[in-house]
Amino acid sequence: MRTQVAIIGAGPAGLFLSLLLDRLGIASVIVELHTRDYIENRVRAGLLEYHTVQLMQELGVGGRVALEGLEHGGIELRFNGRGRRIDFRDLAAGKCVTIYAQHEVIKDLAAARLATGKPILFEARNAQLHAIDAERPYVTFHHNGVDERLDCDFIAGCDGFHGISRASVPAGVLTVYERDYPFGWLGILAQAPPASQELIYVHHHRGFALLSMRSPEISRLYLQCAPDEDLSLWPDDRIWSELHKRFATDDGWKLTEGPITQKAVTGMRSFVVEPMQAGRLFLAGDAAHIVPPTGAKGLNLAVADVRVLAAALGHFYSSGSPALLAQYSATCLRRVWKVQRFSWWMTQLLHRFPDNNPFDQRRQLADLDYLTGSRAASQSLAENYVGLPFR
Ligand code: FAD
Ligand code: DHB
Repeated sequence: MRTQVAIIGAGPAGLFLSLLLDRLGIASVIVELHTRDYIENRVRAGLLEYHTVQLMQELGVGGRVALEGLEHGGIELRFNGRGRRIDFRDLAAGKCVTIYAQHEVIKDLAAARLATGKPILFEARNAQLHAIDAERPYVTFHHNGVDERLDCDFIAGCDGFHGISRASVPAGVLTVYERDYPFGWLGILAQAPPASQELIYVHHHRGFALLSMRSPEISRLYLQCAPDEDLSLWPDDRIWSELHKRFATDDGWKLTEGPITQKAVTGMRSFVVEPMQAGRLFLAGDAAHIVPPTGAKGLNLAVADVRVLAAALGHFYSSGSPALLAQYSATCLRRVWKVQRFSWWMTQLLHRFPDNNPFDQRRQLADLDYLTGSRAASQSLAENYVGLPFR
């Protein structure tokens, strides 16, 4: 097999890239480890930045998100038992965010990709990258009982944090910057109408909590837990009891309960590799960086990377100039580090740290008071939350 761009992974990064390239007339083949059913049902993120939704519209895959997505013009920050709203539409030039589950995005993108007649090779086992420093790199893998070889001009490593692309780069080329957090999130989906129309981020002395949703009937709730929390210690009634404590307000606000249909623990880390390129291999999305989920940025940052990559590849194929490809890593990293900063800042602002230093607690509360009382401070949060502009 031969193509122009071999894309490893059919997550948000790989699928968005394939549609962007298709629009530029650039051929690609997607090599994906799992089945279509698996990637279309994996429960993950749910919050789309303004620009991510706009891109879906531009690519002609915005029909369902426009109908079923929930537009949010603000969030609530709840601390000391009181809620304060941050109004994005007012503070971020009319912009808003949209709640629409990541696996629904995947369904829309995969359907559009397959409708172009170009392949997603599902259940491709043992993918390996070869000759990434040469003019003609290639990928080998096992598919439908056959050993395949895919020759290409470039490889896009879009295979997430645990994929093989980053691991294929020779030792000494990449520098890793990382930070672990001493907590994780226990996330649930519940058949319960969300108790609020907008997201609520809670600072509480028992630990952080977040109310989100997937539809007017389904709540998505998270609570801070240990990074290796044992889910068997969390029967449903304990989860609800803990959520009620953390969301409690002075004015008797009530969380709505319902049957829990999904439970999982997610660890948290900040991670970046530099550069995001090695020879003809370009890393994008979680393959190159991870953010803690507090700022809801993981998926959106993956999309931002592949916008840059598609433009650079388009420039290369139309002009023969590798200039934009050479700048790919530096261009992406400027945004990556701003998003890292924002995700770290939201995380340290809202979580309880194990040493529970009373100074830090007071400082967090002062920060929240300032943030919700100062237009300048809340505008900075709003600008980052809806998504930084691209230029
Ligand atoms: P991925 O979505 O990981 O896609 C990578 C793809 O590559 C997958 O389809 C995978 O099957 C495939 N692949 C992997 N290895 C190989 C291989 N060897 N060969 C071929 N294919 C391969 N972000 C938020 O903003 N908010 C959240 O609440 C949130 N929750 C999350 C919960 C979990 C459990 C996880 C894991 C992530 C969560 N994230 C969240 C992060 C967000 O989902 C990611 O940032 C986003 O999926 C990144 O997209 P990606 O395309 O870079 O990588
Ligand atoms: C969701 C996840 C997040 O990490 C976040 O900050 C906001 C919303 C969600 O899953 O809906």
